[in-house]
Amino acid sequence: MHFPLLRSFLAVALATVSLAGAQAQEKVLNLYSARHYQTDEALYSNFTRQTGITVKRIEGKEDELLERIRNEGANSPADVLLTVDAARLAVAHEMGLLAPVRSKLLETRIPAHLRTDDWFAFSLRARVIVYAKGVVDPQTVQNYADLANPGLRGKLCSRSGSHPYNLSLLASIIAHQGEAKAEEWARGVVANFARAPKGGDTDQIRAVAAGECGVALANTYYLARLMRSDKAEDRRTSERIGVVWPDQNGSGTHVNVSGGGMLKTAPHREAAVKFLEYLASDEAQRYFADGNNEWPVVPGVKVGNPALEKLGAFKADRLPVGSLATYRAKAQLIFDRVGHR
Ligand SMILES: [Fe+2]
Repeated sequence: MHFPLLRSFLAVALATVSLAGAQAQEKVLNLYSARHYQTDEALYSNFTRQTGITVKRIEGKEDELLERIRNEGANSPADVLLTVDAARLAVAHEMGLLAPVRSKLLETRIPAHLRTDDWFAFSLRARVIVYAKGVVDPQTVQNYADLANPGLRGKLCSRSGSHPYNLSLLASIIAHQGEAKAEEWARGVVANFARAPKGGDTDQIRAVAAGECGVALANTYYLARLMRSDKAEDRRTSERIGVVWPDQNGSGTHVNVSGGGMLKTAPHREAAVKFLEYLASDEAQRYFADGNNEWPVVPGVKVGNPALEKLGAFKADRLPVGSLATYRAKAQLIFDRVGHR
């Protein structure tokens, strides 16, 4: 006996099941992220609403995520990596973890100096000079170069020289002025230390506010965090210090980025590109940047962030982010030579 109808029904049903299986596979994006901000929930749920793609997140510390992806090798479920600092993104590139992405949309939305072939910046942070009001005259610390002036002997606090933020800054100085000038600067900086490098940027800000040192470098989002803090002590800290946008009459204030790219081994490549493109949309740019008190990379996108507004406008260095990567290793060698541990 034959059941042609049943058979064709089964065939259709099976086809539907396997199609559903394929679609289910397409509808997931595995995101390895060094971000952990509450506003990111909205960032991801918005993407799911628009595309039907569920974002599965693995969160971790920046360097651990890179190690993890390397260890997982060809079997890594990671589709997209999001992390901070151009130097770290460069490491991901050098480790051969990232796949080149060609996207008209990304090329149109993200300025050329803020992307490479395989990773894209999605937000900007600036490295500014903070000084103790009434102790250091802001006119004497208008440029990064000033931090090496003998007038600041015993007044400068810093985090470690091997930290990516300091490496990226020194990389930008090498790119603009060459290695010799950069080394001279680094030597002057070390000669001005008030204490051996320790702690993070916020610790340097607190040390300046407490009078332990007169001047330090810090990323803007740490300042914004203190300014917007629920704790009165944090807000007082932010009021005791002054902020200078360095190099406004020169190449502009050094900016670093947070960003990401698609992994070479990404199982969901289409979803990965869609997600990167989504991050460059106006709406996502606002969430992405504001989640950590940063600025969008897409020109014209405004963030309603009172702390950033209070910090005001500035001229940012337009050095290509790829250059920060190029000179990262040289920057580390210089800091080693001058004893900036
Ligand atoms: Fe940071």
